[in-house]
Amino acid sequence: MQEHAKALRRRHRTIGLVPTMGYLHAGHASLIRRSVKENDETVVSIFVNPAQFGPAENFKKYPRDLRRDTAILEDAGADVLFYPSAAEMYPEGYATQVNVERLSDVLCGASRPGHFRGVATVVAKLFHIVGPDAAYFGRKDAQQELIIKKMAADLNMDVEVKVMPIVRESDGLAMSSRNIYLNADERKDAVVLRQGLVLAKRMVRRGERSGRAIRQAMKRLIRQKRSARIDYVEVVDPESLRPVGTIRGSALITLAVYIGATRLIDNCSIKEG
Ligand code: PAJ
Repeated sequence: MQEHAKALRRRHRTIGLVPTMGYLHAGHASLIRRSVKENDETVVSIFVNPAQFGPAENFKKYPRDLRRDTAILEDAGADVLFYPSAAEMYPEGYATQVNVERLSDVLCGASRPGHFRGVATVVAKLFHIVGPDAAYFGRKDAQQELIIKKMAADLNMDVEVKVMPIVRESDGLAMSSRNIYLNADERKDAVVLRQGLVLAKRMVRRGERSGRAIRQAMKRLIRQKRSARIDYVEVVDPESLRPVGTIRGSALITLAVYIGATRLIDNCSIKEG
């Protein structure tokens, strides 16, 4: 991959990178399409990164379907699939980690210790291997987006980090590779994440500015679903990710909810007025 990317750069081809863990859906495809539009060559990486899964999380059971993925990424116009093995990415004796402090400790980082260290490390490696002009990420993982932007800025990585909107199912559920884990009842209950966000937006539109009031209303709504167990529901500053007491200007409303055994996340940004 590194040799191929070097050869492309020698020919002055611009490179867009779309990092994924595979089991691709329309959200991933939207990133690929944007990269194809904006670059001469688009590299899609598929790597289920063991370093970002906790010991109790099911790395082995993460869904995989390379044949289907290949069809989706070809259809979206990708030029190169980079599909490394864990042994190539983390050979015996691997020792270096990228730790983006503070941003990695809150929200998903609080419930998944070490998760964002694994994400930042693998994305840094992918950036170094591919050397892209631009890399494409989804707004669905808003905290991941901030951490990667911070890493790229702090470590002077010469790559433009671009972020695309959340692609949703017709009932509003954010597309996710993990949705495949949901049974029929859970799939119905899962729309409650989006419903919580819609409720929050409506409250803000009607003048509510208290982060606490918004959180409580969202939690009440979510708890009505039998299969739902809240991990967190937060109203935070969109840059620092610190909780917001009173909304002034903009805020990020973000939540993680277990639907049965499956942990789902969603978010929306709000602007006052
Ligand atoms: P993965 O969950 O496969 O997601 C790959 C990219 O697709 C991420 O940037 C994610 O935000 C984006 N994405 C996922 N669902 C989306 C949706 N419904 N709409 C728009 N974009 C969506 O995120 C990861 O993999 C990994 O952490 C990775 C960055 C590849 C590092 O291992």
